[in-house]
Order: sequence, then C-alpha cells, then structure tokens
Amino acid sequence: MKCVLFLLVSTCLAFVIVSSTPQTYESIFCFGNSLADTGNFLLEGAVAFPVIKNLPYGQTFFKHPTGRASDGRLIIDFIAEAFELPLLPPYLGITAKEDVRKGVNFAVSGATALDPKFFYAQNIGSLLWTNDSLSVQLSWFKKVKFTLCSTKHDCDNYFKKSLFVIGEIGGNDYNYPFAAGASIQQVRSLVPLVILAICNATSTLIEEGAVNLLVPGNIPRGCSPAFLATAASPNRSDYDPLTGCLKSYNAFSEYHDQQLKKSLQTLQWKYPHARIMFGDYYGASMRFYRAPSLFGFYGGAITACCGGGGPYNFNASKWCGLPGSTVCKSPSTFANWDGIHLTEAAYRSIASGLIYGPFTFPPLLSPLP
Ligand SMILES: *[C@@H]1O[C@H](CO)[C@@H](O)[C@H](O)[C@H]1NC(C)=O
Ligand SMILES: *[C@@H]1O[C@H](CO)[C@@H](O)[C@H](O)[C@H]1NC(C)=O
Ligand SMILES: *[C@@H]1O[C@H](CO)[C@@H](O)[C@H](O)[C@H]1NC(C)=O
Ligand SMILES: *[C@@H]1O[C@H](CO)[C@@H](O)[C@H](O)[C@H]1NC(C)=O
Repeated sequence: MKCVLFLLVSTCLAFVIVSSTPQTYESIFCFGNSLADTGNFLLEGAVAFPVIKNLPYGQTFFKHPTGRASDGRLIIDFIAEAFELPLLPPYLGITAKEDVRKGVNFAVSGATALDPKFFYAQNIGSLLWTNDSLSVQLSWFKKVKFTLCSTKHDCDNYFKKSLFVIGEIGGNDYNYPFAAGASIQQVRSLVPLVILAICNATSTLIEEGAVNLLVPGNIPRGCSPAFLATAASPNRSDYDPLTGCLKSYNAFSEYHDQQLKKSLQTLQWKYPHARIMFGDYYGASMRFYRAPSLFGFYGGAITACCGGGGPYNFNASKWCGLPGSTVCKSPSTFANWDGIHLTEAAYRSIASGLIYGPFTFPPLLSPLP
C-alpha cells in the first residue's frame, strides 16, 4: 500500500516537473575555467597541471582522464544531461566534420576573466596555466558561430533556443594573486575589473544573439582545502563554527557575488529581451558545507578525497595524482576532490540546486520575459 502510494506520488511529481517545464534548450555554449572545462586544457598539453592527464582524474564516471578536473562529471555535464543534450565537446578537439549544432565548450582550466597582460603587468603572469582568457574564448565562439548560421535573422533564431553559460569565471583572477601572497584587502581591489570583464563578455554574447544566459558566481573558497591548509589561522574565531570554513575568504567570495549580481541587474535593464540568470554556486554548495552527512558526504566536506595528507588532506607538494598522494575509497562520500576542485557528487548536488532548486535567479526553467 505504502509502495503504491509512493509510486502514485512520484508519478505525479514527475508529471508536474515535466509539464511545468516551459523552457527547453536545443544547444549550450559554455565559457569558463576548470570548473567547466571538458577537455580544452588537456588538448593544449596541460603543462601547468599535468596530473590531469592521468587517473585518478576521471575514475568515477568516464573511467579514464578526459581533462575534467574531477573524478567525474562537472556541473555543465549535469546541465546538458538535464536538457537531454550530449555532453559538450571541447572546442579544441572539434574536427571538421563534427556536428556542433548542440553546443560547444570553450572553457579552459586556469583561465581568467581578465586578459593575461594584466597579470604580466603585476609580475605574476608566469603563474597562469593558460593564456586563453575569456576574450580568447569569445573569439573562438565567433569562429564557431560562422559555421552555425549566416544572416542575423538566422543567428537570432538559432541562439534564442541556446543556453549560454558564462562561468564560473573570475575565480582564478583572484586565485593567482592569492597564490602569489596577496592579502584579501589587495585582491578585493580587482573585483570591479573582473566583474566588468564578465559583464562585457555577457553583453558581447547578447549582441551576437544570445538570449538565455547563465552567469555563475564564485564557490566558497574559504571551504577549499587548499586555502584552509595554506591560510590556516591559530585564531578559532577566524573559522565558521558550523562549517569549519575560513570566514574571511568566504566573505570575499560573497562580495564578488554581490557585485556580480548588481552588475547583471544593470545589464538586464539594458537588454530587456534577454534573460540573464545568476547562478548561485556559493549558496548551492553551502547546503552541503553546513550539513555534509545530509548529502552523503560522510568523509566531510572540507577534506579532499585525493591528496597528500595533513589536516585537510592537502599538501601542494603531494598533489592528487603525484607520488605520496592517496585517493579515498568512495569519492561520492567527499565533496572535495583534489583540494581545489569538487567531486562529481558535489557538482551533481550544485547542478540540481541550480536546475530544480532555488539557486538560479530567475529560475533556469522559467518562461522567457
Ligand atoms: C602566455 O603568453 C606568454 C607571452 O606570449 C608566454 O610567454 C607564455 O608562455 C604563455 N603561457 C602559456 C601558459 O601558454
Ligand atoms: C570588452 O570586450 C571586447 C570584445 O571582446 C573587447 O574588445 C574589449 O576590450 C572589452 N573591454 C573590457 C573593458 O574588458
Ligand atoms: C581572534 O580574532 C578576533 C576577531 O577577529 C579578535 O577579536 C581576537 O582578538 C583574536 N584573538 C587573538 C588571540 O588573536
Ligand atoms: C608536505 O609534504 C612534504 C613532503 O613529504 C613534507 O615535507 C611537508 O612537511 C608536508 N607539509 C605539510 C603541511 O604537511
């Protein structure tokens, strides 16, 4: 009886979800960094982060390394699956006869929103994993666009059924200076520049015909084992007692998000025909940092599954995949994969918070204005 009732209820729920889906996308175009890269950085040679060429990267879902900085699928993969689209091919791997009508992924691990010359001018250019910043990725998109449509009318018709995911991008613009020893106060001064670059790319895409745009914010870097291990503080009041995350670095991520949301709102007024959605990666992931076991993260949310030991299983000289590192038995019980990037399980949770939950404003599935 219970079973029948459950079946009925779940059938009804499924019906409600399907019948209330007003919006489907026929293609996805994605820009960003390692949170979204499905292979471009690997195709470039992955010189700055060679561990990504080998297992355990990719072990959970693909069973081989794909260039994704995780054990399995990323948020963008779960979004593609939710709209019944193929996983996005990386731009640098596209062959002449490949069908790109369902979308392309331009994201490159290590990419920044600002152009490399900015970082070279600060004498930290040598830290960059790639020079393929957001503007390079946009130029790649323009090349692909040529093969998809010719007249403005054709292109507008084509892209109004596409979802554009711009990010996450910007996180590395802060991570490089942090890695070089900059203080939070110093890095804060970059936020307006980074936001400008993201909004500039968003407007450029709208001018090119994009109508549906998802622009994700930062993930909580104060919960990242890399930051927890390298910016450890003897003062307990620097930590959020509930999550164990570093308060100041999380406040920094929230500051970026607030500024981004404000600027996207202004952009929305400028382009009323478009639907500019903010993707709250921070909020969606704080759910599992606050209550890890509720999400199956029995290994904890702020300890890396794969790493070289220490309190958060993070040691930069024994990075995941290098000699001296170990991999946890079941990555799905960890939110963090390698100290910086998250596990497939965590990405799945964030993606479902964005697609079905309240973490996209306006919702990803709502009708056009
Ligand atoms: C980026 O460009 C600079 C200057 O052209 C070059 O020296 C550097 O090797 C490039 N970096 C990468 C990661 O390709
Ligand atoms: C905005 O984007 C365009 C096209 O990509 C680029 O030429 C321009 O320099 C960008 N401006 C800023 C402020 O980033
Ligand atoms: C710890 O940090 C708090 C808040 O920043 C500060 O008020 C307090 O003086 C610090 N304690 C120590 C022992 O440094
Ligand atoms: C990281 O690993 C190196 C090499 O084994 C070791 O010397 C160092 O003490 C470790 N660092 C931490 C913080 O555990």
